Amino acid sequence: TKKKVLLTRIFPKLATQLLEDAGYEVIAWDKEQPMPYGQMIEAAQSCNALFCTLTDKIDSTFLNACSHLDIITQYAVGYDNIDVEQATKLGIPIGYAPNAMTEATADIAFGLMIATARKMFFMNQKIKNGKWGYFDPVGHLGLELKDKTLGILGLGRIGMAMAQRCKGAYNMEILYHNRTANPNAEDQIEAKLVDFDTLISQSDVISVHCALTPSTQGIFNKSVFEKMKPTSLFINTARGGVHNEKDLIDALNNGNIWGAGLDVTNPEPMKPNNPLLTMENVCVLPHIGSATITAREEMAKMAATNIISFYEKGEVPFIVNPEVL
Ligand code: GLV
Ligand code: GLV
Repeated sequence: TKKKVLLTRIFPKLATQLLEDAGYEVIAWDKEQPMPYGQMIEAAQSCNALFCTLTDKIDSTFLNACSHLDIITQYAVGYDNIDVEQATKLGIPIGYAPNAMTEATADIAFGLMIATARKMFFMNQKIKNGKWGYFDPVGHLGLELKDKTLGILGLGRIGMAMAQRCKGAYNMEILYHNRTANPNAEDQIEAKLVDFDTLISQSDVISVHCALTPSTQGIFNKSVFEKMKPTSLFINTARGGVHNEKDLIDALNNGNIWGAGLDVTNPEPMKPNNPLLTMENVCVLPHIGSATITAREEMAKMAATNIISFYEKGEVPFIVNPEVL
């Protein structure tokens, strides 16, 4: 009998096609919103493998109720929605899909940086609201980026791709803060490893590219925003949980920082009356970092391959917890 794979969202057709071609039965949620938690547990009971993404809460309760699953594969590079420790205890391999969205996400970080520096979203909204005024000789003033300092929190693949864009386009000086040094970035773009306080106090643009973990949860808070330059931009394309939203709003209102560009918020979606949505120096996007045709196809391929390769060869090519194999 065919192994059954539960797909928790509407994923690229390629995922279903690859799985079906390899002889699996696909059970797919067909609504636009995420599959409700209880239904996900229920549907997983008759399935062998789970194909999920960052909108699914794969916590210890879920895992204990679904400990029969052979493998879980995540359609994303970030996997903070999954209790990996518990999955590992239960011996369930967790696959994921890294690399595929590196360029796509760096483009969104870079784009948000420019859009925020020049108030693009706010000005566009003004036009849409019928308030297209005359060319204003003294208004709408933004910031220039040439020769400024970029500070990257989490200089991995995406952080590197953002830093390369900033170096190439604006000759920016690159500072970064990481658990481990990135010699490649130091050679290629003269990136300098600094402590967190130096990063936040010296950078003109802070771009967040770290994973959401207990040590990065809410790390951008009131006291951090207060140490940033009043002319600085805060760009987050990683996870909304890395910044404290109330503190960010206060920091913008108080002039502790100049602007913010967010592709990620906490929660997602943001409530429509959120003050960030009407601020002149803030640009918000609905988590579209990996949303290119190329990246999404590649992510589908990686996540599907994790399942197929696991059953055929006992190998998971892109795995978070290799110790379970
Ligand atoms: C998207 O946010 C991802 O983690 O891939
Ligand atoms: C502005 O439109 C300019 O030409 O400087």
